Amino acid sequence: MERTFIMVKPDGVQRNLIGEVISRFEKKGFTLVGLKLLSVSRELAEKHYEVHKERPFFKGLVEFIISAPVTAMVWEGNDVVVSARKMIGATNPITAEPGTIRGDYGVNIGRNLIHGSDAVETAEKEIALWFSDSELVSWQQTITPWLYE
Ligand code: RTP
Ligand code: MG
Repeated sequence: MERTFIMVKPDGVQRNLIGEVISRFEKKGFTLVGLKLLSVSRELAEKHYEVHKERPFFKGLVEFIISAPVTAMVWEGNDVVVSARKMIGATNPITAEPGTIRGDYGVNIGRNLIHGSDAVETAEKEIALWFSDSELVSWQQTITPWLYE
């Protein structure tokens, strides 16, 4: 079963949207397999956003991610990587569709509330970066037959 890495960024935590994010993923039918609140080290933030290190927003992005706690999660389910990106919406909340998390709650690209892995390969790397094996729980929800034919 596919897994993805989701992070409620510092703005989402400060705005009390952790529960809302978890609720949306639960209601969609995905399974939570890892969850923690943490203060991010500069090293971890830089590694996580390494792909953007030459971009002009990199420094500010790293400063923001380490500025206050984030909530890191791993969600599991059918095509969860693509589906989570759809639920999250476009990078800029102003162009993100209503009904998406960023479209419903954000107004600024630098405060877009949430991160989701952009591909299955990226998800595997990010999960390994943020979680140890012992922090991930493999389990099956009893409602599985009501989610999948
Ligand atoms: P994320 O990685 O956080 O899930 O967001 P994303 O895939 O939708 O967007 P990405 O291109 O990977 O950008 C990473 C984060 O950098 C910030 N950003 N700021 N000021 C800017 O022009 C700008 N562009 C990107 C955003 O916080 C974005 O989520
Ligand atoms: Mg990205």
